[in-house]
Amino acid sequence: MAEGGGGLGTKYDVGMGLAERERTCTLTHPKWGPALSRRDYLLRENYLTTVPLARDGGITHWILTVAGLPAGERPILSSCESLRKRAVYCDGGKVVEGVAHGIGSVFTEEGYRGRGYASRMMREVAGRLRGWQAGRGVVGGEGDEDGVARGRVLFSVLYSDIGKSFYAKHGWEPFESCHVAFEPAAGKTEGGGIARPIGYHELAELCAVDERLLRAELSRGGGGRGRKKTRVAVLPELDALLWHLMREDYMTKCIFGKTPTVRGAVAGEPGRRVWAVWMRGYYGGLNKDEGNTLHVLRVVVEDAEQADEELVDGFRSIVQMAQGEAAEWKTQDVQVWNPTAKVRGLMDKCGIEFEVVERDVQSIASLMWYGEGSTDEVEWVANEKYAWC
Ligand SMILES: CC(C)(COP(=O)(O)OP(=O)(O)OC[C@H]1O[C@@H](n2cnc3c(N)ncnc32)[C@H](O)[C@@H]1OP(=O)(O)O)[C@@H](O)C(=O)NCCC(=O)NCCS
Repeated sequence: MAEGGGGLGTKYDVGMGLAERERTCTLTHPKWGPALSRRDYLLRENYLTTVPLARDGGITHWILTVAGLPAGERPILSSCESLRKRAVYCDGGKVVEGVAHGIGSVFTEEGYRGRGYASRMMREVAGRLRGWQAGRGVVGGEGDEDGVARGRVLFSVLYSDIGKSFYAKHGWEPFESCHVAFEPAAGKTEGGGIARPIGYHELAELCAVDERLLRAELSRGGGGRGRKKTRVAVLPELDALLWHLMREDYMTKCIFGKTPTVRGAVAGEPGRRVWAVWMRGYYGGLNKDEGNTLHVLRVVVEDAEQADEELVDGFRSIVQMAQGEAAEWKTQDVQVWNPTAKVRGLMDKCGIEFEVVERDVQSIASLMWYGEGSTDEVEWVANEKYAWC
């Protein structure tokens, strides 16, 4: 489906336009895949079409091209991809489920830069995503029985590495983009800690609890007449985390020849737990630590009413386990994106040094709202790393 005169081109998937994807990947490899050989990077991008979230058409590859030319002969003027995710917003106290698209890998090859191609693509992608795959991947959930807007595309998100203005110009407003960074600290993984490691098999239960708590929080906090902002969230469901962890498996297998087993840590008993799920991300690889980070995807305090004093020992132990994993897996820091006030309180009390970083250029969380009102009137709840792609 190419549109007239240099319009947005077709999507290409595993079976179709593979050569085009290879061409794009070859060009993006130096920027996004330096921790991998070019071949492993190409294979990773193919593998990433088969994992949760992306599989079954969840990922769409977009190119701006010249209409009418067949794949292989047409130029790739600019490219990006979108990943379908489950999302919710609070409408008058009722949590409504729909779709959000995460956009990533926006790229124009050097020879084509500065001619407005990425701008044109983003404008067209913004319009196309508004109705893209509406209703797909949406399952019934609390509070959306009558499904007024169920399955509608609610919003799209992206993470700008080129500051706040380029994407804002095209409708993706910058949101809070701060993180807390802890140093790696070897030898803290074992012994004495009260936190227990989280493996794959525990994630389904934890994600189900997280989703229930998040829906409850959204419905409590939002929608009243006096409330100015519409509260929205990407759901921290199992597939959303598995996308990260399977990507991490691929990276660590290539870089270290093995995959990690500790995917997070939990402390406390059911009903009064605190936990963090994390993912190791690599841009530097083994040669340099810079760009290698242990990203905390999501932090959950199960009982928000529980006193910090009761939670802080468990939280400290979780951070120490993350620091130990960060050291063992050659990352330069542990990052927690946009921690809630409750989690910031635990950080302050746990006695481990950290740095607060306000990002101005890299990984600027940006959102375009497709519902009523403007994006300015939206509050992005749970704006944490798990929503990144
Ligand atoms: C960013 C990129 C996609 C822009 O593509 P393009 O086709 O040249 O974009 P356009 O011609 O539509 O627009 C260029 C605009 O991008 C801005 N821009 C490009 N690179 C930038 C950077 N590193 N930092 C800030 N702004 C940047 C230009 O200043 C220009 O701004 P203007 O519209 O106010 O004049 C391209 O430079 C690229 O692929 N870079 C490497 C990959 C990358 O960083 N992608 C973005 C990931 S979030």
